[in-house]
Amino acid sequence: TDLTHIRNFAIIAHIDHGKSTLADRLIQMCGGLTEREMKQQVLDSMDIERERGITIKAQTVRLIYDAKDGKRYTLNLIDTPGHVDFAYEVSRSLAACEGSILVVDASQGVEAQTLANVYQAIEANHEIIPVLNKIDLPAADPARVKEQIEDVIGIDASEAIEISAKTGLGMDELLEAIVKRLPPPTGDRDAPTKAMMVDSWYDPYLGVTCLMRVHDGVLRKGQRIKMMQTGAVHPVERVGVLTPKGLEVDSLGPGEVGFLNAGIKTVADTQVGDTITDERKPAAKALPGFKPSISVVFCGLFPADAGEFEHLRDSLEKLRLNDASFHYEMETSAALGFGFRCGFLGLLHLEIIQERLEREFDLDLITTAPSVVYKIHLTDGKTIELHNPADMPDVMKIASIEEPWIKATIFVPDEYLGPVLTLCTERRGEQLDLTYAGSRAMVVYRLPLNEVVFDFYDRLKSISRGYASFDYQLDSYREGDLVKLTIMVNQEPVDALSMIVHRSQADPRGRAMCGKLKDLIPRQLFKIAIQAAIGGKVIARETVGALRKDVTAKCYGGDITRKKKLLEKQKEGKKRMRQFGQVEIPQSAFIAALKMD
Ligand code: GTP
Repeated sequence: TDLTHIRNFAIIAHIDHGKSTLADRLIQMCGGLTEREMKQQVLDSMDIERERGITIKAQTVRLIYDAKDGKRYTLNLIDTPGHVDFAYEVSRSLAACEGSILVVDASQGVEAQTLANVYQAIEANHEIIPVLNKIDLPAADPARVKEQIEDVIGIDASEAIEISAKTGLGMDELLEAIVKRLPPPTGDRDAPTKAMMVDSWYDPYLGVTCLMRVHDGVLRKGQRIKMMQTGAVHPVERVGVLTPKGLEVDSLGPGEVGFLNAGIKTVADTQVGDTITDERKPAAKALPGFKPSISVVFCGLFPADAGEFEHLRDSLEKLRLNDASFHYEMETSAALGFGFRCGFLGLLHLEIIQERLEREFDLDLITTAPSVVYKIHLTDGKTIELHNPADMPDVMKIASIEEPWIKATIFVPDEYLGPVLTLCTERRGEQLDLTYAGSRAMVVYRLPLNEVVFDFYDRLKSISRGYASFDYQLDSYREGDLVKLTIMVNQEPVDALSMIVHRSQADPRGRAMCGKLKDLIPRQLFKIAIQAAIGGKVIARETVGALRKDVTAKCYGGDITRKKKLLEKQKEGKKRMRQFGQVEIPQSAFIAALKMD
């Protein structure tokens, strides 16, 4: 294809502003799908995604548009993941296009996520077409929203296009604008092959499919390609484009977007942002901007029923096949038995994996409190990364501890601003900015990530009645007065319940945990002490009183089957008990204690 007849673009929008509806409308107008196939929203392929209303895996589609100038254009729409945890993936999707359509709900206005993504698009040097969607709604106020786009984002909105993705209003104008206002890609067909990995996914029949944007040279069947980051070499079995159904083509040239299969077994071998080149005639330099995926949030996942351990292991392996940014390794806990320590890109990523394990793989899981990665500087000069509070070195060996901070942007209607500021302050936040746009406030805070993984989203939602929107970027590591809070049951530490907290929060967290456990641990024949401690110092204590009388003589009389059943039940119950010193604690108590509130 002639480069001047290609346009590559992304849609950036806040959740619910109509990205999927617009993509569907574009496919309906310019794609290769029938009415019937259109019935289902085609861009979101997984159920969980649809239910949560977010797009997890980026997918792309090639559209054919006959413009008013009489020429035929190839439009490549590159879908971007819709959540903060996937900021790097978003940046690579944007790096694969020359322009963006900025969709803002004309009845809602600019939200936190819109802002974060549009800044990324500006950084990627994109031409941006502002689009006001849902213009059919009586509550639409395009004039106000245009003004807001100019005030808050700082881009010209005078030529914003007003559309309704739902009714189709304004779509012709938008398609013309894509062709006229967005620049075509550039590239050199005769240079060594250079293509960027935008996304990849696993299919049991095809193996791994890689979605790529070609910059220079060509990609074709039979070619031996080399991944410049991993060094892996693969023979190309198939190249094609997504319409959105896969359609095989002979080759993909500069500026084109498409997929390839090359006998790759797992997505872990295909890193987003990697440069694909020709093994025999390799490019001298990789494309800029590659970053390896790193886990930001960790937690332990344990099967509620120890017999399900193998099933959990298999399920994790399957998920990992399709998710290169999810990591896990085996972990044992005295409280919870055998399980896995898992690493995620962020809290939402964690929730998605947890939900898939429970729903698709039918697992009943115990999840330990999420933890961030701490950098611990030891007195001997070494630095370690701590992923699990249970592995914290002895206090005497620690010189200092650093924790990750984020820069968070929150949009909230005026009337809820007070409680939002209080919440951020409680969580050790430092205010960086506070501005107004109409009746909404935008606040920017620097916050320790460890305070955010501790139920921050939920609190933010409840204090703003769901009206606040939130987005963040990792900022920097900073030294903090952090301590390990240990929970002990009759002097035995309970590994699964230990956590790292700021010294100022240790007292309330310790007291809360002891109070909770007191209600959860059943009485036994002796007194049980529940303590929270920092180092050797106890900061909170509760006692579970002893049982006064023997209640084992409940079952009398001659009904032998009843007696048997009772014995069996007891045996079953025993399996679910965990022994701490002489204290037996039902596993259900841990599950309840680990539930955050
Ligand atoms: P995520 O997939 O959750 O990121 O959201 P999205 O931005 O893709 O939004 P989606 O397309 O799912 O639309 C959200 C809701 O807005 C849906 O109920 C749509 O039917 C509705 N919607 C989208 N476009 C329009 C429009 O032009 N007019 C009206 N009235 N409703 C619209």
